Order: sequence, then structure tokens, then C-alpha cells
Amino acid sequence: LIRTPLRTSLLQLAKSGTVRDAVEKAPVTRGVVKRFVPGSSTDDAVRATAELQSTGRMVTLDFLGEDTLDLAQAQATRDAYLTVLRRLSDAGATAGGRAEVSLKLTALGQLLPGDGRKIALEHAREVCEAAAAADTTVTLDMEDHTTTDATLEALREIRVDFPWVGAVLQAYLHRTEADCRDLAHAGSRVRLCKGAYNEPASVAFQGADVDRSYVRCLKVLMAGEGYPMVASHDPRLIEIAGALAAKHGRDPHSFEYQMLFGIRPEEQQRLADRGDQMRVYVPYGDDWYGYFMRRLAERPANVGFFLRGVATR
Ligand code: FDA
Repeated sequence: LIRTPLRTSLLQLAKSGTVRDAVEKAPVTRGVVKRFVPGSSTDDAVRATAELQSTGRMVTLDFLGEDTLDLAQAQATRDAYLTVLRRLSDAGATAGGRAEVSLKLTALGQLLPGDGRKIALEHAREVCEAAAAADTTVTLDMEDHTTTDATLEALREIRVDFPWVGAVLQAYLHRTEADCRDLAHAGSRVRLCKGAYNEPASVAFQGADVDRSYVRCLKVLMAGEGYPMVASHDPRLIEIAGALAAKHGRDPHSFEYQMLFGIRPEEQQRLADRGDQMRVYVPYGDDWYGYFMRRLAERPANVGFFLRGVATR
């Protein structure tokens, strides 16, 4: 996670409507996007889940979308989750949490003027009810730092009725080690990632300090009584997570590794094959632009791959 001008520019472009139109219309885009997003329909999500589960990997599904200011769109996002949970449950894919869902509160209406927070919370509750009926879990994604307090507050409220709901914490934020301490209690599920947004130095570590923070946060979570979810593709952090789990006498079912769809699939398989729990985050839907730009920003090689595709057409 290196702070380069390219990364910063791509993350700024992730918020630009004009560039969004151009990228979405570029003929090469579809092919490259497919590497990170298996498809747009519920059928695509169900198929990708079945394929991953057939190789011993678990899944968390993300119906793509964020920052909506349209109530109908927020309701459609809730409905997409209800549909996919029903389909997966009917297919026997959710039992015991083998396939769960990840929610972005801003996709469920958190930013709507007036009652946005209340509306998003209500939508999240409806998804949680469907998840409970399907014998699985829900994890709240974490967005940029302006939403962290609201997301953690929503987590507290939702956990009163659905204590198995988990949340993402981002190691790049200065506050996160303290948030890990708050959430390292029994029954708590924390997905620890580095963080994918363009955050200022006033709130976030930069460069190698992000990795150092990740290790400090991991130490807190692995020593605690909760259920750590190690969301990273970084070989060094994966090794440290394994060593900390062993040090604290954790068995392989008391934590899990998580990676994004299409990123380091061989490593995903290696961890699953050696008996560790590996969950793949599977985004699907048409609103892939923001997600895709964050993936490009993470790795300059991905930008080269994309531009080469444009140039050869
Ligand atoms: P880092 O970016 O340093 O990459 C380490 C290595 O992984 C690279 O050297 C490369 O080999 C490989 N790699 C990483 N990204 C790649 C890419 N895009 N393409 C190809 N190879 C790549 N963030 C957030 O802010 N809020 C959230 O809710 C979530 N949720 C989430 C869930 C899950 C399950 C995961 C795995 C990640 C997230 N993230 C996230 C994203 C996260 O914050 C982070 O941006 C990425 O995981 C990349 O960070 P790494 O830890 O992989 O390290």
C-alpha cells in the first residue's frame, strides 16, 4: 500500500462522474473488470459462489454500489441482498456461514438527507433477518473515514438483535488500534484490512506505517476473544497472522483469512488446502466503477494491464 501520485490520482478519479462515463464505455473495460467482478446478475453471484465453494473456499458477497442519494436505489440494493440470500440458501450454500454477505451502509441509504442513517440501519436489519433465516452472517464494510463513527454506531445497534454481525476495520486509520481493543471481545467478528480510500495524513498512516499498524491491530485481535478475519493479500502479513494465531493457541476455526475475488487465487487455494479457513470477497452487480478504480489504485501493474488493453484495440 504505497502512497504514490498515481494511487492518489486513481482514488480521486474513483469519485469522478466524467471519468466514470469514459471508463465504463471503453471497449476494453469489460474484459479487465471481469478479473475482479465475476458478473452483474444474481445468477453470476450464485455461480461464482458454487465454484469457490467447490474448491473449499468460503464466500462473502457484495452487491456493488456506494454513496447512493436515491431512496429507490437503496431499496433495490436491500432487495438484491434478500434475493441472493434466498437463492443461496435454497442451493444449500449458506449453512454455517459458508457464504455470507458484506454491506456498505452508504449503498443502503446512509447518506440520504434527513433520515439516511435510520433508513440504512433499517435496510441492514432486514438483510440481517434474511441472513439469520439462511443460517449465515453479515459483515459491514468500512468506507472513507467520514463514515467510520456512523458505521461503528450502526454496528452497536444492529448487534443488539444480531450479535453475530461483524465489521471491517482499516489499519491505516490512527484510531483503529483502539477500535480493535473495543471489538476484541467474545462473539465479535472483525475483518481487518489495510484500507482502500484516499485518506489524509491527519487521520491515516501512510506507506510502511500502515503495515506496522496492521501488525499491532492483528496482535490485539489475535490475543482477544473475538473472531479475527485477516483480510489481506500481503504474504508477510499472512505469515505474521499465522504465527500470532499459533502463539495464542487458536485453532484454525477460530479465525479466517480473506482475499478479494481474482486476486492471488493460487494463494487462496494454498491456504484452503492446508486446512485454514479462506473466504473470498465476491463483488457483483453493474455499479463496479468505484470498486474497480480502488483495485487499479492498489497495484500499478493493474493499470498497465488496463492501458495495454486500451492501446492494442
Ligand atoms: P497490498 O495492497 O500491500 O498488497 C499486497 C500484495 O497483494 C501485492 O503486492 C500484490 O501481490 C497483491 N495485491 C494486492 N492488491 C492487488 C490488486 N488490486 N491486484 C493484484 N494484486 C494485488 N478496504 C476498505 O477500505 N474497506 C473495506 O470494507 C474493505 N473490505 C475488504 C474485504 C476483504 C475481504 C479484503 C481482502 C479487502 C478489503 N478491503 C477493504 C481492501 C483493503 O483495504 C486493501 O485495499 C486491499 O486488500 C489491498 O491491501 P493488501 O492488504 O492486500 O496489501
